[in-house]
Amino acid sequence: MTEPSTSPSARKVYLETYGCQMNIADSQTVRAVLRRAGYDATADPAEADVILLNTCAIREHAEERVIGRLSDLARLKQARPEVQLGLLGCMAQHNRAALIERAPWLDLIAGPDAYRRLPELLGRGGFEPTVDVRLDRGETYGDIAPEYEKSVRAYVTAMRGCDRFCSFCVVPYVRGRERSVPPADILREVRTLAAAGVREIVLLGQTVNAYRFDRTDFAALLRMVAAVEGVERIRFTSPHPCDMSERLIAAMAEEPRIQPYLHLPVQSGSNRVLAAMERGYTREQYLDLVERLRAAIPEIALSTDIIVGFHGEEEQDFAATLELMRTVAYDAAFTFKYSRREHTRAFRLGDSVSEAEKGRRLAEVIKLQEEMGLARNRALIGREFPVLIEGPARRGEAMLAGKTPQFKTAVFPGRAGATPGATVTVRVESASSHSLSGVIA
Ligand code: SAH
Ligand code: SF4
Ligand code: F3S
Repeated sequence: MTEPSTSPSARKVYLETYGCQMNIADSQTVRAVLRRAGYDATADPAEADVILLNTCAIREHAEERVIGRLSDLARLKQARPEVQLGLLGCMAQHNRAALIERAPWLDLIAGPDAYRRLPELLGRGGFEPTVDVRLDRGETYGDIAPEYEKSVRAYVTAMRGCDRFCSFCVVPYVRGRERSVPPADILREVRTLAAAGVREIVLLGQTVNAYRFDRTDFAALLRMVAAVEGVERIRFTSPHPCDMSERLIAAMAEEPRIQPYLHLPVQSGSNRVLAAMERGYTREQYLDLVERLRAAIPEIALSTDIIVGFHGEEEQDFAATLELMRTVAYDAAFTFKYSRREHTRAFRLGDSVSEAEKGRRLAEVIKLQEEMGLARNRALIGREFPVLIEGPARRGEAMLAGKTPQFKTAVFPGRAGATPGATVTVRVESASSHSLSGVIA
């Protein structure tokens, strides 16, 4: 948990995070490492001695945003040259040479496996930027308790890296080989969180269900976490379709604390494109998995990731993606235009779909998902769900918000005793494509 500032003279760190949940979790580890070394956190870059951006390299757009932000922050260095400016994370790992050229004012470039050494790296100083982008297949940070934000939900890293090498994706290059955190470290973390009032644990990894440590596979790990006193809800993200074992489906079906929700990235509905993406499954295998999941866990909600405009994606391939979306009827979908990334296997293939056409296809998948999400949510009107309260709803007016077991946001008027961390039964009265509204039943 975040502790208040202790020493007025301590060096202050400002840390900004981009990218996925893994990066958010890593930032919590970075905070813990720096606090141990005597740094204090600050929310104001203007008063920071060290400014760090933990970055994402998944799409070009993500990188452009960071470069823009970096040049803004570099201005603070003009007024106070002693300020250290550092870039952490996947982008640091991905393209350090180009970075030094585009952002010459950087003092530090540190990849995802270098965080343990941050205090030492920051201590070095000097004219040239300090660079540490060694990937370390043994680094899990399992022994470092991250500095969690206060929340009813905590994201706990179960495994790092990725060995799948989908042809479009930089993650295996920037995060290195797959490695699992020892179960004892995960369980210690979960017990501490539960004792501090956290009600929901989300286990994290790029292919989290590929988890394996000695004889413990992911299904076994989930059951161990589910047995920790005080944990009400367990989720995990992101599973890879190829690693959805029968043991895992059985654990989800049998263990009531494992919530009926799965983010199951499909990427494309076309077998030709799936093969070019090297995803390791066909459309038919994916649909069969969806059927088995729904047979075992009838109330399960499914979300997905979709890339449009991958190199070589023809009109009929795109039509196959739309058709798959209709067949599965996802509760939510995260949709992206293909971004050609250096170092990946697909890089040399090219980028055959024009930007305008990618835009058209993206708009179409978004529109279809909005319609289908709305229909699925409307079908829930009149039903009641246990909702774990997270806090005030964004829309205000004394409204509260929380999640249903299916990870749908529910918004409802508060009442006495309905405080964050409590679970209440909410009756759904209306629905939009992204959320449910109702009343405490
Ligand atoms: N490990 C997860 C995905 C991690 S990246 C998995 O395999 O499911 C999150 C999402 O970003 C991916 O699912 C994919 O849809 C998208 N993505 C990854 N690389 C991309 C690229 N080069 N262009 C566009 N989208 C990409
Ligand atoms: Fe990237 Fe594929 Fe690994 Fe996911 S499974 S992180 S998409 S390489
Ligand atoms: Fe981005 Fe790295 Fe996550 S590339 S999506 S922050 S693993």
